[in-house]
Amino acid sequence: MGLKEELEELRDDTLDKIENAQSSDALEEVRIAVLGKKGSLTAALRSMRELPKEERPVIGKVTNEVRDAVEAALEAKKQQLKAAELEEQMATGAIDVTLPGRSMPIGTEHLINHIIREVSDIFAGIGYEIIPGREVETDFYNFTALNAPQDHPSRSMQDTFYVLDRSGDVANVRGESDVLLRTQTSGTQVHTMEEEEPPIYMISPGKVYRRDVADPSHLPQFHQIEGLVVDKGITLGDLKGTLDYFIKAFFGEERKTRFRAHFFPFTEPSLEADVSCGICHGEGCRFCKNTGWVEILGCGMVDPNVFGYVNIDPEVYTGFAFGVGVERLACLKYNVPDLRMLLEGDMRFLRQF
Ligand code: DAH
Repeated sequence: MGLKEELEELRDDTLDKIENAQSSDALEEVRIAVLGKKGSLTAALRSMRELPKEERPVIGKVTNEVRDAVEAALEAKKQQLKAAELEEQMATGAIDVTLPGRSMPIGTEHLINHIIREVSDIFAGIGYEIIPGREVETDFYNFTALNAPQDHPSRSMQDTFYVLDRSGDVANVRGESDVLLRTQTSGTQVHTMEEEEPPIYMISPGKVYRRDVADPSHLPQFHQIEGLVVDKGITLGDLKGTLDYFIKAFFGEERKTRFRAHFFPFTEPSLEADVSCGICHGEGCRFCKNTGWVEILGCGMVDPNVFGYVNIDPEVYTGFAFGVGVERLACLKYNVPDLRMLLEGDMRFLRQF
């Protein structure tokens, strides 16, 4: 077999191998075996040097033709394999864009925050300011300036957490007023009257603390919303009208309000407000202990002694105040059976609101 035939055989053999290559990698192996540095065609070209001069052009031409044929076949096959491989990739790695996304659970607003927002919205809607309070207070703001001076019996109505200093004594401010966790949001009344001139129309939601053991109806930490109005000519009628408006806005138009005399040191007169029972609608049931009413908040006209602590002239201004328990509202509106559920973080409970 002459060199020409050998080259033609190499060509046919290579074209076969190219045709049968199953992957880009296999194709590359064929290319290297034929056209690589140590490839068979490369070797054939090299051996041309040993040919007699007159044969060289003929064989050179054949060699070039073989190389061109092999290169063309390689390129065509390369494109074909690439396309097939892409096809395959698309088929196996395909993303079904019509699948619904995986839903990320987003949290829910805690019932307590939800109620605070509802109440704040109602009062903001009639022009009240929403004022933040402070949870760490002094005895002066929590008791004294609210007309409960030292030894006043009303102090024992609320068992207090005191803040201790390093030596274990109750921490003091200016050597006279004990530092404590507020037992009520009412101290915000005093701060607000110190900081703002009347007219004042404000509510102030926040946490309060009392030395109580947690049970279904008590928590050592709970929430109140304080309300205060100070203006010229404010009467008990304004208080009743405002709270009746609030109760209807919060619980529903059909609910009725009634007021009973009560005692708080910082209001005179002091009242408690009841709302008609949402379960029996006033008929009497177990929930309202057959009275048709449930207690909802404390309120009253600001005691002139309190005005005395903040230098507001009670001859010019009058005012009313109220304080409502947020957990109490939660129980009445959403039938929470055990207040401890509000602290436990059980999502099955919390997600309902
Ligand atoms: N601070 C009272 C309490 O914690 C609630 C209260 C009653 C607040 C009457 C008031 C009010 O502003 O006027 O029991």
